[in-house]
Amino acid sequence: MFHTIPEAMGQRMAELEAIDARDRVDGTPKARRMRQVPPETGRFLALMAASAPAGDWIEIGTSAGYSTLWLALAAREAGATITTFEVLPNKVALAGETFAQAGVSDVVRLVAGDARDHLPALGEIAFCFLDAEKEIYEECYELVVPRLRPGGLLIADNAISHGEIVKPLIERALADRRVDALVVPIGRGELICRKV
Ligand SMILES: C[S@@+](CC[C@H](N)C(=O)[O-])C[C@H]1O[C@@H](n2cnc3c(N)ncnc32)[C@H](O)[C@@H]1O
Repeated sequence: MFHTIPEAMGQRMAELEAIDARDRVDGTPKARRMRQVPPETGRFLALMAASAPAGDWIEIGTSAGYSTLWLALAAREAGATITTFEVLPNKVALAGETFAQAGVSDVVRLVAGDARDHLPALGEIAFCFLDAEKEIYEECYELVVPRLRPGGLLIADNAISHGEIVKPLIERALADRRVDALVVPIGRGELICRKV
């Protein structure tokens, strides 16, 4: 999978990595920053998603679509599709550009709006990447976990970098008998939950 990143996809990934690196040092306001996962986390997400059971994939928090591109790489191999939710119009526009430039419209569906308005209408979920504002993590978790199919995965970003604010979710997941859960020290820390 990683040996065959299509040229257009790799080019857009590199562009977004450069913008993200600049954002982190030049004082760009939060609403305009990419705030994307590092490449190592992107690879990790792709590996995990490719190992999920068959079914629908979702992402909560698209930004400009960087993590979505890694998931798209895995989705092509797994025969899956990803629905990704983004609430900010400027980010929706950027993500649209990313997906057009990278040529991933066959596996990615971009939904504009608050993911919480759409999650209750979803069917079974095989894989979910949660990477929105940390204040809504628990609410999203409670909406996603009942919909995860057996063996399905929910991965939440920033489990270590935002340890204090994500702590209630981590404690909830570790005690939740519906899932097996673990925090993995990759990138900014990933909480992995697998539906039993
Ligand atoms: C950390 S960034 C996502 C980065 C992206 N996953 C990546 O790695 O390329 C978080 C994004 O979640 C979006 N967001 C926050 N709350 C949301 C919600 N309730 N529904 C959908 N998107 C949301 C923000 O606007 C922001 O663009």
